[in-house]
Amino acid sequence: MNPLIRAMKRIFVFLFLSCSLLALSCGRTPEEPEQVIINEGTVPQICSVGAREKFSLDGAWNALIDIYETGYYSYRRTPIPVGSSWFMDRSYFTTPDQLIEYDFDAAPTLDVPGDWNTQRPELYMYEGTVWYRRKFDFKPEEGKRYFIYFEGVNYESVTGLNGEILGRHEGGFTPFCFEVTGKLREKDNSLIVKVDNRRRLENVPTVNFDWWNYGGITRSVHLVETPSTFIRDFSIGLQKDNPEYMTGSIDIDGENVRGTAVVSIPELGLEIPVSINETGLGTFSVKADPERWSPGNPKLYTVHVTYGKDSLKDKVGFRTIETKGHDILLNGERVFLKGICIHEEKPSGKGGRAFSEEDARTTLGWAKELGCNFVRLAHYPHSEAMVRMAEEMGIMVWSEIPVYWTIDWTNPATFRNACAQLEDNIGRDHNRCNIIIWSVANETPVGAPGRKEFLYALIDKARELDGTRLVGAAMETAYISDTLATINDAELFEKADIGSFNQYVGWYDGTPDKCDVLSWTFSLNKPVIISEFGGGAKYGYHGPETWRFTEEYQKLLYRKNLAMLDRIGPQLAGTTPWILKDFRSPKRALTGIQDDYNRKGLISEKGEKKAAFYVVRDWYSTKQ
Ligand code: GCU
Repeated sequence: MNPLIRAMKRIFVFLFLSCSLLALSCGRTPEEPEQVIINEGTVPQICSVGAREKFSLDGAWNALIDIYETGYYSYRRTPIPVGSSWFMDRSYFTTPDQLIEYDFDAAPTLDVPGDWNTQRPELYMYEGTVWYRRKFDFKPEEGKRYFIYFEGVNYESVTGLNGEILGRHEGGFTPFCFEVTGKLREKDNSLIVKVDNRRRLENVPTVNFDWWNYGGITRSVHLVETPSTFIRDFSIGLQKDNPEYMTGSIDIDGENVRGTAVVSIPELGLEIPVSINETGLGTFSVKADPERWSPGNPKLYTVHVTYGKDSLKDKVGFRTIETKGHDILLNGERVFLKGICIHEEKPSGKGGRAFSEEDARTTLGWAKELGCNFVRLAHYPHSEAMVRMAEEMGIMVWSEIPVYWTIDWTNPATFRNACAQLEDNIGRDHNRCNIIIWSVANETPVGAPGRKEFLYALIDKARELDGTRLVGAAMETAYISDTLATINDAELFEKADIGSFNQYVGWYDGTPDKCDVLSWTFSLNKPVIISEFGGGAKYGYHGPETWRFTEEYQKLLYRKNLAMLDRIGPQLAGTTPWILKDFRSPKRALTGIQDDYNRKGLISEKGEKKAAFYVVRDWYSTKQ
């Protein structure tokens, strides 16, 4: 055969085969499944944002429900390139000749901050992904730095800006941020957040918890502007071992960090120069005698911190907190913690995640009516607005991370997650003087493999980050005999600064008359707090005292419990009954009584006070 013809023939055969192969795979040419670039590193946490001027990104965000995560994964369930993902914010309606199967401009909106469950009926129990998109104009200034700061997103999020992924975050109740210096444009910035609230075994909390899994951008979002060298964080308080001295630290981020910062408190005539070293850190300690913060006198001072072109202004209280034998001492005086547990739910209306100052003021107003000087913010860090409102109102706080029930103790990623949530909780609130207890867990199984090591490491971390406050956890009850009970958690009680435990005598544990024959004993010479007790009642449901869920049963339960607690004596340093207000939980299915609500509140979800509210209020009025 003529060589030319032979060559032509080979070329034809090659072309034919190539086209056939292409034809076979047509229709869905699976793009190369390159990994979506995710910044898994720790994002630069800018602290004390509450002390800064900020630009709000709150408001109506366009939102697309994406239960199969089509905007993120290919049909082979591999991450699709960012360029093909919904982070590109493309629009079908402006380019109808393109194959685009989403369009944020055409999408309905969800309010931010806010959970999605109470904004749309179809999202009431939704667990999955919702994409949020906010468009905004902003003219960045030369020489300034910019951060997108989220106060809270439940549960996991991946954030993109103008088609570039900034990073992911896990944990539904602590703040996080991404630096966006140099990434902003004057017009039409596209901020996109993929939020996924699915429960997973390795998460913190894990798959089973007694509260509603409210998903979404549940707290405010800010654009924070700082000078190129700025005050990343500062701390200030009374020196733990010598309260005649006010002490603190300043952490500077930026290029030329060496220099001198100034901490000033005009009302005290203080102007403290603080030398900043080459790593950006500076500390100070000066003799000072501020008025002590206390529930009776919630005194706050305006503190200014300046460094170069940056300045912060915060309201700070000064107090000491310590234990001495059975006693908790606030400013050196024994204090009995007249508390109540609180979930972060709106005090009225459709419910859902609380986030505003108004929500906080209403809820804490009820706690004050009850006679409280203390609240257990269960079971996760509440909003900064809630903590600051409590500080202003003179209410001490137990702050907790959601290491709740049967966590995946032997999973290193789970521990890293719990640790990060603890660090970010302390990072946000370490200047809030009303927080007196960091709690690392709730009702965790004694003896579970890895549990002791996990919790001991968290307690060590809390003390490393902040040696000024008490560290504890909510433990459970153990029986020594039919009539003698104690805390079931010797290992944790030993490690913690306080013995705090949950008991449900009269509800999960017998009936109220069991309180009459039960005594309590505690081995360690440490203060004891009963961090949960109580029982359920539907407001307005009346009947014999033997009927569960009647107001009469709940009232009897509280009367008997409080008489039992009075027999404990001076080792009892405080109580936080479970709970101030009825709250949503998918575990509460009794139609006509619970209807998706845990009914152990002293107040109904509509704000109606049950008979037991007054039993507790009267008891607190007798406690000093
Ligand atoms: C537990 C748990 C709470 C829960 C409560 C209840 O003690 O700590 O989160 O809501 O009991 O069963 O009502």
